[in-house]
Amino acid sequence: MEQNKKVEVTPENSINPKTGKPYRTHRESAPDPKTVRNDNNRGVKHVIAVMSGKGGVGKSLVTSMLAAQARRNGFKTAILDADITGPSIPKSFGITGKAMPSADGQSIIPCESQNGIKIMSMNLLMKDTDPVVWRGPIIASAVTEFWEKTTWGDTDYMFIDCPPGTGDVPLTIFQSLPVDGIVVVTSPQDLVSMIVEKAVKMAAMMNIPILGLVENMSYYVCPDCGKQHSIFGESHVDEAAEKHGIDAVAKLPINPQNASLVDAGRAEALDGEGLKEITEVIFG
Ligand SMILES: Nc1ncnc2c1ncn2[C@@H]1O[C@H](COP(=O)(O)OP(=O)(O)O)[C@@H](O)[C@H]1O
Ligand SMILES: [Mg+2]
Ligand SMILES: [Zn+2]
Repeated sequence: MEQNKKVEVTPENSINPKTGKPYRTHRESAPDPKTVRNDNNRGVKHVIAVMSGKGGVGKSLVTSMLAAQARRNGFKTAILDADITGPSIPKSFGITGKAMPSADGQSIIPCESQNGIKIMSMNLLMKDTDPVVWRGPIIASAVTEFWEKTTWGDTDYMFIDCPPGTGDVPLTIFQSLPVDGIVVVTSPQDLVSMIVEKAVKMAAMMNIPILGLVENMSYYVCPDCGKQHSIFGESHVDEAAEKHGIDAVAKLPINPQNASLVDAGRAEALDGEGLKEITEVIFG
């Protein structure tokens, strides 16, 4: 059976309270040594990529929540906004400045949020009104440049806001950056099983575990009756997670307050409580 093939690798010390056992995360086999193209960023200890099947499902919100939570837990935290054509991270963290070149002109200094989350994004290199019209290969090389040329310094956790989809750019990210794990974001309207299937296949090719699955906009807590309404339809994440041996599942409600925080550039105030199972896997 498919279930038996899996070698289950979990971060140390993360016990699933539901089962009393370590969390299962999806990984087909032991990791290969990573081929990192330069040594500049050896100070970045953990790299977590956040991906989704399509845009608008809350990938950036989840990336921001994870980073805010990491910072709150006292970790040196960074976000690499790899959504080159739809960058939204700087604005949601209230960053108004631009990234500057280092004194020797060889690297770029990332911007920092109020609480010190280092951020690099296409938005920080150009005027806000300039659209990015590049095609796939150039976009992919921009992402690897962001990794290589930014002076990230000592960083405990870097979160990558991937471009939407399971195409070439996320694949390049997994191939050329030392990604330790992937978080997949879906919505109830998605063909969840298909997206997770694709993500699992990509991750398996690179020997990267899928650490958790998020269903965003899963339900709405009705202010009138207090019940959870499944506005966008029935949830399918639990089946998909079960099928692929992913233990950490999060269901985030539709929460207008979170949208307001993001709009107001206050993403650092986002509450990571809804992602608890996943943050436990990541932070141990
Ligand atoms: N759970 C949620 N409740 C309310 N608004 C949300 C929620 N998730 C995302 N949003 C809002 O929906 C929009 C799309 O989310 P975003 O994170 O930008 O998606 P993506 O990065 O996948 O394109 C944003 O305006 C965001 O603030
Ligand atoms: Mg986004
Ligand atoms: Zn109701």
